[in-house]
Amino acid sequence: MSYSTEQIADMVKPTFLHRKIYTDPAIFELEMERIWGGSWIFIGHESQVPNAGDYITLNYGHLPVVMVRDKQLNIHVLHNRCGHKGAKIVDKRDGHVNAFRCCYHGWTYALDGTLAGVPNMKGYEGTGFDRSDPRYNMQKLARYDSYRGFVFASMNPRAPDLKEWMGGAATVMDNLCDRSPEGEVEVAGGVLRYEHECNWKLFLENLNDTMHPMIVHKSVVDAANDYIATLPEDSARRDEAEIIPPFGASYEVFESTGITGFRYGHHYDGGETSIHADYSVDPDYERAMLAAYGADRTREILTYNTHNTLYYPSLTIKSAIQNIRVVRPIAVDKTIIETWSFRLKGAPDSLLQRTLLYSRLINANGSMVGPDDLTAYFRVQQGLASTGNDWIEMHRNFGQDEDQGDRLVNGGTSDLDMRTQYAAWKAYMTNDTPLANQEAQAS
Ligand code: FES
Ligand SMILES: [Fe+2]
Repeated sequence: MSYSTEQIADMVKPTFLHRKIYTDPAIFELEMERIWGGSWIFIGHESQVPNAGDYITLNYGHLPVVMVRDKQLNIHVLHNRCGHKGAKIVDKRDGHVNAFRCCYHGWTYALDGTLAGVPNMKGYEGTGFDRSDPRYNMQKLARYDSYRGFVFASMNPRAPDLKEWMGGAATVMDNLCDRSPEGEVEVAGGVLRYEHECNWKLFLENLNDTMHPMIVHKSVVDAANDYIATLPEDSARRDEAEIIPPFGASYEVFESTGITGFRYGHHYDGGETSIHADYSVDPDYERAMLAAYGADRTREILTYNTHNTLYYPSLTIKSAIQNIRVVRPIAVDKTIIETWSFRLKGAPDSLLQRTLLYSRLINANGSMVGPDDLTAYFRVQQGLASTGNDWIEMHRNFGQDEDQGDRLVNGGTSDLDMRTQYAAWKAYMTNDTPLANQEAQAS
């Protein structure tokens, strides 16, 4: 079924959402075109392609793309499609090449996507074929840019600059990198790739949903606490004991962390405090940070504790943990979630080990926490597929958002995060995009 702009706008009320947002394949296709096509999408981290010729591949919405570093060490994000008869050129997830060569008829491409060679040119003579015509290149995406090593691309030539699009939420990305004594992070430890049988938005809505952990994760928190109680007083510090129990924190604790929402759908919970705030600090790490930044700046960096931050719609980061989760929608009820872990350059190895442990304990498909959430998403997806009640609600603390100019702030158990996401969803989907608003204001 196709929808008019008015019908789509009617699916998002101030405190209600229509179930078809999560279940209708036609809505999903429009989301790929208007949200994934209109905003900035996370592609990868520069450290994944350290040398000229290194590449990774992925799907940007329905578009296969390759991120590659050229011989001048510039990074490009290219449509992974041959300019001849359209074959997908690169088939591996990552690798190294001196140039790209299509498997079908052997057209070759430089690392910036420019067509470099066509076999047996003779038959093209006098046909009007001009191999220098850029239409035969591997096409560059309309925009790509990086912030602190995180590469984003956009199919929207009129998208705002990346930094402007990130807005106040960029401070969390800064904090993730500033936790390195060298101010830089790099991907380490591989990827956890996990298929979720649910709509992509259910994962995003869960990020700052602090009304669920004490319910959904109770069994694992209780089991962890029971185990911790058996440890002798003088037993060595167990990172597991710091990571799992905070997921059972009370409503009051989560309320106190707060939620902050931004234009374009970004938001985070925490800031002054979060469920990661009480982790112990490796003395070697503290020494390295003090040497790099001095006492005041080190305290500032390490006490900025957010939990989950969303750069709507594709990237979520945990700055205090140094891992990210990336959203790759496949279909209306199928989504790939990737967890990537980061090494803080200049920090002791214990930091990376804790990040990897966290990723395994909380985010992996064999973890004890992530599958709790996945079960809930799956049940929501099942429930929303049924007719008889078309609406879901998001009233918590409605009407009480505090407007601080570039951001809205509310309590940690509020639905501010959902309202922030769906303001952006509605704007992108009705072509009343935040970008268009901005232009209208400027003109
Ligand atoms: S399809 Fe790529 S060379 Fe023919
Ligand atoms: Fe959860």
